[in-house]
Amino acid sequence: MQQDERGHAMTSDSADAAAALDLAIHNFLHWRAAVIPPLRNSLETDPDFGFAHIVSGLILHGARNIHFRPKIAAAIASAEETTTAMTPREQLYLAALKAAFQGDISGSVALYETILVQHPLDLFAQRLAQMELFWIGEMEWSADISARVAPAWSEAVPSYGIHLSCRAFDLEESGDYRGAEKLARQAVEIDPSDVWGTHAMAHVMIMENRIDEGIAWLDGLKDHWGEANQMALHLWWHRCLFHLEHGEFEAVIDIYDNWIRNRELPLLKSMADLYIDMQNGASMLQRLEMCKVPVGDRWEELLQLTLNRLEDHTSPFTSPHYALILAASGRFEESYGLLASMEAFAATDKGTLGPRYRAAAIPAARGAIAFRQAQYEDVVAALFPARRSLWQMGGSHAQRDVFTQMLVFALGRLGQADLLAIVVDDAKAFGFSDVPERLCYRQAAALLQ
Ligand SMILES: [Fe+2]
Repeated sequence: MQQDERGHAMTSDSADAAAALDLAIHNFLHWRAAVIPPLRNSLETDPDFGFAHIVSGLILHGARNIHFRPKIAAAIASAEETTTAMTPREQLYLAALKAAFQGDISGSVALYETILVQHPLDLFAQRLAQMELFWIGEMEWSADISARVAPAWSEAVPSYGIHLSCRAFDLEESGDYRGAEKLARQAVEIDPSDVWGTHAMAHVMIMENRIDEGIAWLDGLKDHWGEANQMALHLWWHRCLFHLEHGEFEAVIDIYDNWIRNRELPLLKSMADLYIDMQNGASMLQRLEMCKVPVGDRWEELLQLTLNRLEDHTSPFTSPHYALILAASGRFEESYGLLASMEAFAATDKGTLGPRYRAAAIPAARGAIAFRQAQYEDVVAALFPARRSLWQMGGSHAQRDVFTQMLVFALGRLGQADLLAIVVDDAKAFGFSDVPERLCYRQAAALLQ
């Protein structure tokens, strides 16, 4: 029996195949780009390695791309056909993959929790649970999971720092900034290339309005991101959030062109439309334009990629960003088509995502389209009643804020000081410090005068 780096059994007769899969999982856990080559190597070495097929399906599912569904189905079929008996833990992973594939995200998380009861050091299950919960906005659930496994961990366990950075982000999104900062700093001290720990700290700093500190933090660590996956580009997006608060728009445009949407980078060459990169791009262009910064033809490349994703309902956080892109490009007919397809999905989906589309993604998309048409009453009609439900679309407080900002600007333009004051209170309740002093809120307040 082969074992992974924390001693969990892996069912393969080939030590080389198991080592290759362990490397793929290690790289995934450490947010490194090199996941597919060792995974492919593992499956070539042992085509009957059921767990490797499962991991392959899970990685593809994690990319939140409707076009990957046939490949995920094939990975499930290959795992089920495997002649080698799997361990109960591997079988639970297969069940989790099947649940997620059927849209039962909560069900898949429950299976990861079941794995973690027996195997609290199974960092892969902890990370997959966090990823699923993050994209449906259930970060307090994720914090409960990481707190439950924490007593089993010690510095002696391989990849201890990743467990810390995982927990740090759970705490940050749950509003425990001191707890998050302590663990994030510890994780980055263990390994300065830990982009998830770096990211948790960047979130703490944007929530607490620690702008200069945030720039210095990311600037001091950026040279360690060479092997990182798309999280490196998301960290550049975070850096832009800090520059925006300082009104340093040229720096934002420079980072946008060189990192966030630089199609010459290997990460974007290999997959230009990965959902987080699409979110980063749309969100930053929208924020720039709300600050009256011209963005030229930068929406166009996002538009071309979005046109291939209009029937993609794999991510209630990404779909409203597609609406942003279509509307910003003047493609209102397609934006209404997107809304209609989201509504049809929400009306029929029996899984976890349908209700989240209904409660959050659809109002956010509707608000985004109306905002671009300067129909501010419609923006308020879509977003004001939904504002306390937007967390259900998933993503972080900082990411979702772009939709709150549209509501803020709309209320400012309509002169609705009373409702604007309520939204300011909401933002404070979500965990943002110094809300009235922040750029967007200052600009909205100026509109009222
Ligand atoms: Fe983030």
